Amino acid sequence: MVEKAVAFFSLVALAQCQLDGVPAGFNTDRWSWVSYENPLVAVIPGHFNRTVFDAPSAANVSDERVAAINKHINASSFVAYDERFFDIIGPDATVEQLQVLPFQVHEAPCYIPEQSQLFFVEWGPPGGDNGTHDYQYLLDLKTNNLTKIRTIPPTSNVHGCVYHKGSLHVVTDGGPDETPYLATINPNSWERKTILNNYYGRPFISFNDLEIDGEGNYYLTDSLSGWGRDLHPFSAPTRPTVYFVNGTSLRPKELAYVKDGNANGISLSPDGKTLYLADTGASEVKPSRRNPHGGRDLWAWDFATTASGARLPVLTNQRLISTAMQYFYDGVRVSEGGWIFVAGGEVVDVLDPESGLTLGSIRVGGGGNDPVNLVLGEHELWIVGKGGVWHAKGIHERLKRT
Ligand SMILES: *[C@@H]1O[C@H](CO)[C@@H](O)[C@H](O)[C@H]1NC(C)=O
Ligand SMILES: *[C@@H]1O[C@H](CO)[C@@H](O)[C@H](O)[C@H]1NC(C)=O
Ligand SMILES: *[C@@H]1O[C@H](CO)[C@@H](O)[C@H](O)[C@H]1NC(C)=O
Ligand SMILES: *[C@@H]1O[C@H](CO)[C@@H](O)[C@H](O)[C@H]1NC(C)=O
Ligand SMILES: *[C@@H]1O[C@H](CO)[C@@H](O)[C@H](O)[C@H]1NC(C)=O
Ligand SMILES: *[C@@H]1O[C@H](CO)[C@@H](O)[C@H](O)[C@H]1NC(C)=O
Repeated sequence: MVEKAVAFFSLVALAQCQLDGVPAGFNTDRWSWVSYENPLVAVIPGHFNRTVFDAPSAANVSDERVAAINKHINASSFVAYDERFFDIIGPDATVEQLQVLPFQVHEAPCYIPEQSQLFFVEWGPPGGDNGTHDYQYLLDLKTNNLTKIRTIPPTSNVHGCVYHKGSLHVVTDGGPDETPYLATINPNSWERKTILNNYYGRPFISFNDLEIDGEGNYYLTDSLSGWGRDLHPFSAPTRPTVYFVNGTSLRPKELAYVKDGNANGISLSPDGKTLYLADTGASEVKPSRRNPHGGRDLWAWDFATTASGARLPVLTNQRLISTAMQYFYDGVRVSEGGWIFVAGGEVVDVLDPESGLTLGSIRVGGGGNDPVNLVLGEHELWIVGKGGVWHAKGIHERLKRT
């Protein structure tokens, strides 16, 4: 437990662009501590406003002290909303930008520990050939050398990736002449093997992301996003849907659908008993636009079980964990400790799975740098998104699941 220094409110400190004091040992340049016990946080004097898509620190405020606080938050790497965030992240953590890339979506990060490599993609328009990407990026984490690779045969429009038992498991949006599929990629030979491409003869819409449980079963989100950006020329045959795919038999079954929204990031609790899903209905397709009244939510369900306790591919007890403080949650990953890491807007937020409270944010600079997805290492994580690739390291808690 980190000893929290006396957190007191002082006008002098605020004039120096500071919020309540961060605990002793935490760097005040890298950290901000935002508490509603601070009067300037609870009651903002004068004019204030922001849209749901803007970061809190990008709010339009008239009070100079609040503007100074927001400037400090914008330049911080870590913003704590809860004292537990200091313990999870610890005083040694830093965020570094590894690659500066265009301000467009980078997605599907997979960490390959044996080769110290990060696999990821550039997603959708306006890059690539008419938005279609039949190559992927490979970042050598020892030398920071970024190269482009093509699998054998080439894989178009990878959108999600999980590294499991020596293989990259990917889902695609589909491509100019193919519908979406689930595949494995061998990270040594780069050979790709398609393992599922239909639901009893029916094509999928466009896969977005996936999760794999301890038994090797898959959880896939089939979304409107790739279809909405015309990454393939086919129709959207169903509503956005979450599928369970038995890793042994490959038999697919739908688990949930998103009625008025969209299915995006997906992850499981460490014990495999809870499923988390990001609904990004606020990002509308055809026409492409942001609707502040659309879904920006992280939902949780438990799995129904048989009388003897075996898990069934049926969900129960749906509940709202959290609505994004800013923008919407895209990529979702759950750490060994059960904390939910969600990427979207200017931040990766860390949520408490029980209360749903946002414990804190990991920031990558603002100014158009926007996390889209992340992958957890042991005491580190990699973030990909608009503007590039970032590495947060020196994290106190172990993140990657055993
Ligand atoms: C806040 O900003 C939005 C978007 O610019 C605007 O539509 C709305 O009227 C503003 N609200 C207030 C209270 O200023
Ligand atoms: C900020 O708020 C002020 C006061 O309402 C308004 O005049 C100004 O246009 C706003 N700026 C932005 C960028 O919304
Ligand atoms: C890309 O779009 C242009 C203009 O619509 C079209 O002429 C060209 O054939 C397209 N290329 C591919 C590879 O689809
Ligand atoms: C980066 O990797 C590529 C592909 O392996 C290689 O051709 C190139 O020489 C490497 N560049 C550096 C600077 O190491
Ligand atoms: C997966 O399929 C196998 C073989 O049919 C079956 O034994 C197993 O119970 C299934 N697993 C789940 C979680 O449904
Ligand atoms: C946050 O900082 C970045 C980088 O310095 C800058 O580009 C951006 O305008 C800042 N955002 C706000 C809201 O001040």
